[in-house]
Amino acid sequence: MASVRRASVADTVVRLLMVVLLCLCITCDGHYLNVSSRWLVKEADGQRIKLACVNWAGHLETMLPEGLNRQPLNRLAYHVNGMGFNCVRLTFATYMLTNATIYNRTVAQIFMDAKLEHTLRGIVIHNPELINLPIQDAYACVVQQLTHAGLLIILDNHVSKPQWCCANNDGNGFWGDMFFDTNAWVQGLCLVASMFKDNDQVVGISLRNELRGPKQNINDWYKYMALGANAVHKVNPNTLIILSGLHFDTDLRFLASNHLKNLSFQDKLVYEMHWYTSSYGVNFAKGNLNKACAIATSSVMKGGASMVIPTTNRSFTSPIIISEFGIDQRGGNKANNNFITCFFAFMASMDLDWAYWPLQGDYYIRHGNEGDEEYYGILNSRWNEPRNTNLLSRLQAIQQPWKSGNFPF
Ligand SMILES: *[C@@H]1O[C@H](CO)[C@@H](O)[C@H](O)[C@H]1NC(C)=O
Ligand SMILES: *[C@@H]1O[C@H](CO)[C@@H](O)[C@H](O)[C@H]1NC(C)=O
Ligand SMILES: *[C@@H]1O[C@H](CO)[C@@H](O)[C@H](O)[C@H]1NC(C)=O
Ligand SMILES: *[C@@H]1O[C@H](CO)[C@@H](O)[C@H](O)[C@H]1NC(C)=O
Repeated sequence: MASVRRASVADTVVRLLMVVLLCLCITCDGHYLNVSSRWLVKEADGQRIKLACVNWAGHLETMLPEGLNRQPLNRLAYHVNGMGFNCVRLTFATYMLTNATIYNRTVAQIFMDAKLEHTLRGIVIHNPELINLPIQDAYACVVQQLTHAGLLIILDNHVSKPQWCCANNDGNGFWGDMFFDTNAWVQGLCLVASMFKDNDQVVGISLRNELRGPKQNINDWYKYMALGANAVHKVNPNTLIILSGLHFDTDLRFLASNHLKNLSFQDKLVYEMHWYTSSYGVNFAKGNLNKACAIATSSVMKGGASMVIPTTNRSFTSPIIISEFGIDQRGGNKANNNFITCFFAFMASMDLDWAYWPLQGDYYIRHGNEGDEEYYGILNSRWNEPRNTNLLSRLQAIQQPWKSGNFPF
């Protein structure tokens, strides 16, 4: 009885927040973005926005964005903003929206089912208003707090079945894989697009993270991306549609000869790519760093980043978001250290939009370990301080756009 009552109070609070938010947005600047050649620009005035995002995982087994057992949600949201990021790429699993045995489970029920009582106690302490909300509503609260903190948000469909990502054979890699049902995928995308369609800080929806695995092929990529993109656009015509490439989002080469056609819209389409130390098969641990960097950079350009450069060989130019990159921040991995130096040089010269992987300092549960530490995380395992201030200041150096106003192309 008591818990039912709490849930309904929390429900009311959420609804009130939504109303406040809607009212605020009547007077606030439109945040929605358009694509203009290789740039993301504000729909309202055509000025460039450079996305400097951090990834925040919400797609693992519990489906609750990580860290809410460590810090209050609003403090985390403002902390992200305070570190200079202007945006969060918030991941989610399709099942959170489409699977009837999951979507009406409360946060408390999910954590109890997963035998994460200790972690749940942390959530009760720091974010008590979340625990009796259905998981979808708790996720919506996170989006709202990010919104309040002035951040832009990209919702990233990371997996279908909530779990750690990504492996070739994890059943979530390509349409038709064990858990990757096409209809549920479209349904989930439309639900999430509809949930946030009045929030103009939800500027992008990434249709699927890191396509991969034995089933991947170009024809299906075109077919299903057009299907998903048109469906999302119909529900939410203002948000950017962000598309990932094959082979763990390293390969968009096929677009050079054949752009994605058959879309009901033009100026909302963006591509994303990922770049980790070994993504493009370059050994950054030994040999000449300049040479390794030149080879890797060239692979990234051929893989798709060259879409930002106009050429007569291609009928279009497009923005590219490097939506995942990251390193072990303990500093002892030479390949990681060399890679990130190369990466920063590349990003400084190319002025691309980006999202660091990831924010989280640890996980509720990953690989079966409760409180598993994330050494790539921007925040430490207590989620109260940056893990590595040196890396953070290097990231801050690529947060500002080089170009704004009148663009050469
Ligand atoms: C829903 O989720 C449950 C629990 O993970 C799973 O056993 C079931 O197969 C899922 N159903 C569908 C239709 O995806
Ligand atoms: C969740 O939904 C299922 C199927 O619609 C229903 O049987 C169940 O009672 C619901 N659970 C709660 C807690 O609302
Ligand atoms: C184009 O998209 C529509 C709607 O998604 C679909 O019905 C149609 O089959 C597609 N045509 C081609 C040639 O892919
Ligand atoms: C354009 O195509 C020509 C001929 O196929 C090729 O030699 C050249 O390298 C291409 N340029 C770019 C920028 O891809």
